[in-house]
This record gives sequence, C-alpha cells and structure tokens, in this order.
Amino acid sequence: MKIGVFDSGIGGLSVAKAIERALPEEQIVFRNDASHVPYGTKKPDILLGYVEPILQGLVVDGCEVIVIACNTVSTTLIEELRQRVSVPLVAMEPMVKPAAGQTKSGVIAICATPTTLKSERYAALKRQYASNIKVLEPNCSTWSKMIEDKKVDHARIADVITDVITLGADVIVLGCTHYHWIETDIKKIADGKAIVLQPEQAIITQLKKLLS
Ligand code: DGL
Repeated sequence: MKIGVFDSGIGGLSVAKAIERALPEEQIVFRNDASHVPYGTKKPDILLGYVEPILQGLVVDGCEVIVIACNTVSTTLIEELRQRVSVPLVAMEPMVKPAAGQTKSGVIAICATPTTLKSERYAALKRQYASNIKVLEPNCSTWSKMIEDKKVDHARIADVITDVITLGADVIVLGCTHYHWIETDIKKIADGKAIVLQPEQAIITQLKKLLS
C-alpha cells in the first residue's frame, strides 16, 4: 500500500523514516511544503490553502492513507481536511493524555508551536486530561525554523529544558515533529530527570491497525 506522509518540512521526514523502518513492505511517499515552512507561527485559515492541494496531490498519486505528521495542522485543521480529502487521515497531536498519566510530580511540559498551543483541540486535550496537573508551555516558537535551517541553538534548547525541569516537570512532550530531530539532545539535557515523549510509535500502531 502507498502511505502518504505530510509535514511543513523536515519534521515529517523523521516520522516517514520511522514508518519505513516499522513497515518495510509498504511504500512511503513523503511530501512537505518547502515554500511555506514554518507553519507553527501561521494562522489555520492560511494553512488550509497550503495543505489541501498537497494532500489532494498525494491522493492523485495513489496514497490510500495519509499521515499528517504535523501537530500544527492536525490540531487546527483535521476535521476540515477529513471532509475534503477522500482517504483516511492519521493525525498527530501533543501527547497530553500519556504525559498526564505518567507524571509523578504533577507537572508536565508541552513543547509545541504557537499555533498548536493556541488551538481549540489542544485546549480540549488539557481540559480533558490535565485539569488536575500543571502544564508548562515553554517558548519554542523559533525551534522549527532553526531545525529546518539546520542551525540548532543548543544553548537555547538547554535553557528551555533546564527551566521546565527546575519548575518540576518530569515529563516533556515533543508536540512538534521537527523536535524529533533533537530528541537525543533533549534526553541528554533532561538526564533522566524527565522522560521525553513523542508519538511515532503510537502512529505506527494506529497505521498497522488501519492496514489490517
Ligand atoms: N512539524 C510541524 C508540527 O509538528 C510544524 C512545524 C512548523 O512548520 O513550524 O507542528
């Protein structure tokens, strides 16, 4: 089966590679939007005009399922896109529920783009799963751009991660697929004081279910 994977930029590539490793018999078609990345500081109505034609292109190219490997798009546009695109869309959103379930300190940190953090879907996740815990939302607004440009400011990342740990976070959620590329860095900085969650495995499990 042909599986489409979409993101604004190289974030989705890490997800596409993980899917390829887990499902080597499937054909993975990765598409991004090099002319409009980063998405995380843009408004959803603008993003819809960018994303829909790319997804329709993946359908025309024979993809029977598409993974939206972008939290920004998933948390703001998934319902609209599901109405417009004729194949199943697998969405990705910040792992608030698993983080809330795993914290012992009662403090979690969600690293995500400004557009994701402003979304109604993210607010609903917090209301549903994190009403009794403290949710830190550090400023990661420049991260996807610096990762896309391969100019990672390691000191800035270390500051943010150290800060949330000092404030008590014992679970850190990577709520943007670009951050998967610096997961090892973040884990090193966290140094066992916080666990780091990202959704690749959950997406693969969901895909396997869909395929069977
Ligand atoms: N990688 C995307 C996400 O998961 C978008 C990042 C961006 O383009 O700013 O949110």
